[in-house]
This record gives sequence, structure tokens and C-alpha cells, in this order.
Amino acid sequence: MSLQERDKKHLWHPLTQHKLHPNHMVITKAKGALLYDEDGKEYIDGIASWYTCMYGHSNEYLTRRVFDQMQQLDHVVFAGFTHEPAIKLSEALIKILPKNQQKIFFSDNGSTSVDVAIKMALQYHFNNGEKRGKIIALEGGFHGDTFGAMSVSGLSIYNGPFKEFFIDVSRIPVPTKDNFEEVKRKFLQILSTDKVAAFIFEPLVQGAAAMKMYDPHFLDELIAIAKQHNVLTIADEVMTGFGKTGRNFASEYLTNLPDIICLAKSLTGGLVPMAITSCSQKVYDAFLSDDLSKGFFHGHTYSANPIACTAALACIELLQSEAIQNNIKRIIVSHKAFDSRIKNHPKVASTRQLGVIYALVLNIEMQRYGDLRYKLFNFFMKNGVCLRPLGNTIYILAPFVITEKELDKVYNTIENALDSF
Ligand SMILES: Cc1ncc(COP(=O)(O)O)c(C=O)c1O
Repeated sequence: MSLQERDKKHLWHPLTQHKLHPNHMVITKAKGALLYDEDGKEYIDGIASWYTCMYGHSNEYLTRRVFDQMQQLDHVVFAGFTHEPAIKLSEALIKILPKNQQKIFFSDNGSTSVDVAIKMALQYHFNNGEKRGKIIALEGGFHGDTFGAMSVSGLSIYNGPFKEFFIDVSRIPVPTKDNFEEVKRKFLQILSTDKVAAFIFEPLVQGAAAMKMYDPHFLDELIAIAKQHNVLTIADEVMTGFGKTGRNFASEYLTNLPDIICLAKSLTGGLVPMAITSCSQKVYDAFLSDDLSKGFFHGHTYSANPIACTAALACIELLQSEAIQNNIKRIIVSHKAFDSRIKNHPKVASTRQLGVIYALVLNIEMQRYGDLRYKLFNFFMKNGVCLRPLGNTIYILAPFVITEKELDKVYNTIENALDSF
């Protein structure tokens, strides 16, 4: 029996309707920007495997550092114990995070980093003697699949069946030049009628909403208003973090800094899962007390796993290297050149770019999981390019190490797809 057949026997894949999509492609190897299937056919990973492997697959520097750490200290309980990888990582992260961030809390994935952020915000007010239970979130946002994260995400087929069980959330539209006054009015109205604990957002780019981009200026204004109402602000940088927007963090485009930041995905470069929720001193201080119950009693077994911390530390070193910084600049320029070539194509409705994130919207109506979307995906894969369109949006978020030749192939394949559909 082939691996693909054996897969069907016991495996249940994420975000998959198995009745409609029973087959899963077997990938046997990955290196740099390339994935290889069972027959050795290569595919350019145009989405860095959900934006994790930004320094390239099986990166030698990362794997060596992780291998060395494995021989030294694999794991130890992080309650009551500490270790050098976590300490070094915290020091390195605090140096590059927005300057109000002071404390680092570990968990396992993007969703848990959001749940941690929400719990931190709710307990912050509780510890300060206030009962605030409402969270404000942006429509169309995606923050993950655990209950807290699902509650603050925009409504979709992902979370529809669970909506009766959500925590208390009010959603406002993404603020833009055209709707800002109305959004601000709604925001102020919620702030005046409800006991709001926090405002959560994906800064500047809503990833799962098909790389929808918005202006930092209006977000900045909302953050300022939130601060005036003692509402904590949470930047979910799970997707935008670590260089993808052209700066280390999307929050660097803001003047009003978030109180809490969620990090995961390329934090560990695709080697092992780990997430971080960072916060300001003000947030941390609300948990400091002689009263034991005011502590933050949240803890995952693998918190601050030394191997994952080492991977994250090595990723930060790579991110800061001249080579990666030059690659980021190069990809930004290449995307711009591609954009001027493609934006007037009759099948293109609009395009957008921030840093190395590039998205192109087709002027064809397409369901998020409709037939045409799958046809497009299959066309890309047949041509050796792994791109996963989100509805009628094709986006590129390739590893920073992608070569110009590989990028050209991605661009040409998209152009060919536009001419064939
Ligand atoms: C902005 C954002 N937050 C949270 C998540 C959830 O992360 P994870 O899938 O690691 O739980 C995602 C995943 O795509 C994301 O894009």
C-alpha cells in the first residue's frame, strides 16, 4: 500500500473535509525553499509552510544548533526551574521587540499564545479589582482554533458550530480611510456601554482573511482610545512577526505600542512548535502580589522547551544577519517589479504588498473552498509551485532564502495561471 493509501487509514488532517478531499500529497524531504514529493518532484514552497520556515527548510545552522542543544538539555519543567536557552532567548527577544515589552511567557502554538493573552488581559483587570469581561476584535480576523482564539476570530465555517460557547466578544470592521469615523463611533460606543478588558488585532495584515492589509494610522488611533479607557491592547503577530512586513514586527509601524504581543510560527523557523506571549511591565506588575491567587496560573507541560528556545534564538540570529536582511530587501524589490508587470492584467482586480507579503486578488468570484480555488491550487502544484489561494486571492509569502530564479518561477506560474483560467 502506498503512503497515501496508508495515510487514509488512521489520519485526520486539519481543516479538511475528508469526504471531498481524501488524498494528501506525501512530502518526503524539504530543503531551502523546496519541498520534494515521493517521486523526487520539487515544489517551491511559496507560503513557507504556513509562514513558519522563513529561513528555509532544514536550515543547516538551525538544525546544528538544535542538535547540539538536544545533547545538552532536552527538557525540564519550567515551573521552579530555568535554563540558559530560555534566558538567552528572552534577552534577545526583548532587544528586538517594541520597547515597552518586558516579560516573556511561553506556550505551544499561535492559538495558545492568543489564549494566554486573553487570560492575561482578563486577569489583569480582575487583579486590579475590576470585573471586565468583554474583548473587542476586528471583523475577519483569525487568531486560532482554541476556544479563546476562536472566540475573538471573525465568524466563518471554522468556528460557526461553537459560537454559542464563545467568550464575550464585540467585533468592529477593520478601520480604513473610508470607514474610520463610523468604526471609531462603534468602538467608543462599545467602550462606553460594556466592561471591555482588551482589544485584539492582527496588526496591518489579516493573514487568514487573504492577506488583507490596512493602514497603521487608523489602528494607532484605536489603540490610543483603548489606552484612554484602560483597555489592554493585544497585537497578534503570530503571522506578521519576524521580518515579514519589512520590519521585525508589524507593531513597529505603530506609535502607540500594544501592551501584549503574541508570537509563534516563524519564531522557531518550522523546526519545532513553540509560542510566546510578551507583555509590558505594567501588565506583569498586576500579577505580583503576596496573594498567591493573583499569580498567572497557566502552564503548558512543554513551556520554554530548551530545544525550541534554542531554535528561536538561532532564528533571531539569522533574522538579524546581513544575508537575511539583504534577502528581505531583495524580495521586496522583486515583488514590486512583479506587481508593476501584473497589476494591469485583465484578470487582476487589485494587488497589495507589505514587506515580503504579496497578494493578488482575481476579478473572478470564487468561494473560499470552491472548485475553482482547488483547480488553481492543482495548477500551481502541477507546475511545481506550492501556493494555496485563499478564495480569489493568490498570495506569496515564501522563505526569505528563496532565490531570484525560484521567485521568477513563482511569478511566471501565477501569470500562466491567469492566462489559463
Ligand atoms: C494571526 C494568527 N494568529 C494565530 C494563529 C494560530 O496559530 P496556530 O495555528 O499555531 O495555533 C494563526 C494561524 O494561522 C494566525 O495567522
